[in-house]
Amino acid sequence: MIHQFIQGTTETTFVLLHGTGGTEQDLIPLAKELNADANILTLRGDVLENGMSRFFRRHAEGVLDLEDLKKQTERFLAFLDEAAVKCGVDRDKMIPLGYSNGANLIGSALYRQNAFNASLLFHPMVPDRSLTLPSLSGANVFISAGERDPICPKTETEELTSTLRTAGADVELFYHGGGHELRMEEVEAARTWVASFLG
Ligand code: MLT
Repeated sequence: MIHQFIQGTTETTFVLLHGTGGTEQDLIPLAKELNADANILTLRGDVLENGMSRFFRRHAEGVLDLEDLKKQTERFLAFLDEAAVKCGVDRDKMIPLGYSNGANLIGSALYRQNAFNASLLFHPMVPDRSLTLPSLSGANVFISAGERDPICPKTETEELTSTLRTAGADVELFYHGGGHELRMEEVEAARTWVASFLG
């Protein structure tokens, strides 16, 4: 997968996944806001939609290609195992952080495997309603969303949150009053949440 690794000074590694049309550079400032000392492994999706980078295909806005999502999720998880060895970081201390399309890939990973001790999903959707989730005991998840998001309605955020909680995840949910855009107030909420793990 297309990626860049930035060495930090702690054992934690943020794994960054941008939204549709983004690049691996987009979320670096956000990660640094959350914790300036962590390593950063930042990815660029190589699925192109009219020239826009994504992490998996979709049929239309909000209509995910579930077959491709499964394939790309498996590829993502395998990549992280390899990257941990190559970059010399602890796989168990990887914290994925994604926005929109990137958050959906992380959500898809959580729906299939208890793959991360902590993860941050900014403006995610329900990845795949056909899946039965594994036990997510010990998984800590931060979700933020917009109350008036036309791409991801509040009902969908509530469904995602309660499905993850039912599987045993400890989910913190934060709303801002707007739409699909990232706002400073959710970054601040995420920073407080991250600090509760990393100090
Ligand atoms: C997706 O395709 O992952 C969602 O529609 C979010 C987006 O990228 O717009």
